[in-house]
Amino acid sequence: MSKSLFRSPRGTRDILAPESTRRHQLVNRFGEIAERSGFGLLESPIFEDVSVFQRIGASTDIVTKELFEFNDKGNPPQRLALRPELTAGVCRAFAQHRPTVPWKVWYHGPQFRYERPQSGRYRQFMQVGAETLGSDDPHADVEMIGLGLSFYEAVGLRRVRLLLNSLGDVESRSAYRYALTRYLQQRSTELTEQSLATLGVNPLRVLDSKRPADQPVISEAPVMTDFLTEESAAHFQEVQDCLDGLDVSYELAPRLVRGLDYYTRTTFEFVTDSLAAAQNAVGGGGRYDGLVESLGGPSTPGIGLALGVDRTLLACEAEGVLAEVSSAVRVFVVDTVGGSQAVGLCDRLRRAGISTDRAFDRRSMKAQMKLADRSEARIAVIVGPDEQSEGVVSVRDLRSHAGQQKIPEADTVKTVKRLLSTLS
Ligand code: HAM
Repeated sequence: MSKSLFRSPRGTRDILAPESTRRHQLVNRFGEIAERSGFGLLESPIFEDVSVFQRIGASTDIVTKELFEFNDKGNPPQRLALRPELTAGVCRAFAQHRPTVPWKVWYHGPQFRYERPQSGRYRQFMQVGAETLGSDDPHADVEMIGLGLSFYEAVGLRRVRLLLNSLGDVESRSAYRYALTRYLQQRSTELTEQSLATLGVNPLRVLDSKRPADQPVISEAPVMTDFLTEESAAHFQEVQDCLDGLDVSYELAPRLVRGLDYYTRTTFEFVTDSLAAAQNAVGGGGRYDGLVESLGGPSTPGIGLALGVDRTLLACEAEGVLAEVSSAVRVFVVDTVGGSQAVGLCDRLRRAGISTDRAFDRRSMKAQMKLADRSEARIAVIVGPDEQSEGVVSVRDLRSHAGQQKIPEADTVKTVKRLLSTLS
């Protein structure tokens, strides 16, 4: 085969069936579960003014290194960026429309981050997610975590663990930041150069380092939960009590720092042991009580999550829990006469709600039957010269190959429907 002239850009993929069908099924499953809990679908733009994303945080890689930015053709041009995640866009939409609270939305779609591509890490990837704006009730946090867990349970994943932390409110965090900075400065000679650079911008993000050389310092660092104000501690305790009441198992992860700067109080991550450590987070989320305000809206608490569809599918594969995607096509119309009969038959079958495919280009009977087999359709409806002259069609069960029957053409839909309901 000759090499094609163009390839999909680095870090992006063409996703063909059946993988695309599986992704679609996962998205639908998430939507069903979210809607069952009162979340409504939000569709928002794939690109926004770059300032919207800058609110994610000045020290996050997502903003400083990974944005796909561009100018539009206006005069003067507007600086835009492809969304690297959806929470900032949802908060921008909230500030713009001021819906009644609590505003509960779910979403799905591609996100874009200029990362170094590897298995489970792409420059275009798919997320499903949800946000609840306008409530700081710990029950909203528990509902959000429960939504994620219900999704993993529904797709059959067993090796997903919930890591839980609280980053406290502004007051707790500034006390912690002070203590952490002092500690890291005292041990700065033991840190890697990259962590030293991060320390100057955001000491919390040093805890996020996966570099082995940083681990001894990180493992002895002070933990956030020791610095929570009474109010933040009580909020976090109630989240834990509710999770305990629901028999949800979780691991307290006092050094869990999420890769985005907007978080306050509850933060969590879903990790799987079935993927390599660098990509083992299949989802994550938390509270971001100041984000709407930073986007020009009223002071509004928020909690949300986003789950990576690509990684969830990799985890499904690793755990062997991928449901077989059965072919959507139930009937294949084979027409060797080359008239317009196949067009009419397909039209009638499809209008009757039966998924139907056919061959083109007047292929031979043998070639068309091969295509019918490949389509995994259950039934072939065949029009050859004999059938045409008799005003009938032949109907064949493609799986049992138990002969075929001729039926009046006018009865095709009725007969196919009956057969499909009786055949397993
Ligand atoms: P995040 O942790 O950046 O959070 O992303 C959520 C999930 O998206 C990750 O756990 C991972 O499964 C997937 N993901 C992230 N980057 C990539 C990538 N390059 N390739 C493949 N999958 C990826 C957020 O995006 C927040 N907006 C979550 C949130 C919602 N927090 C509050 N509300």
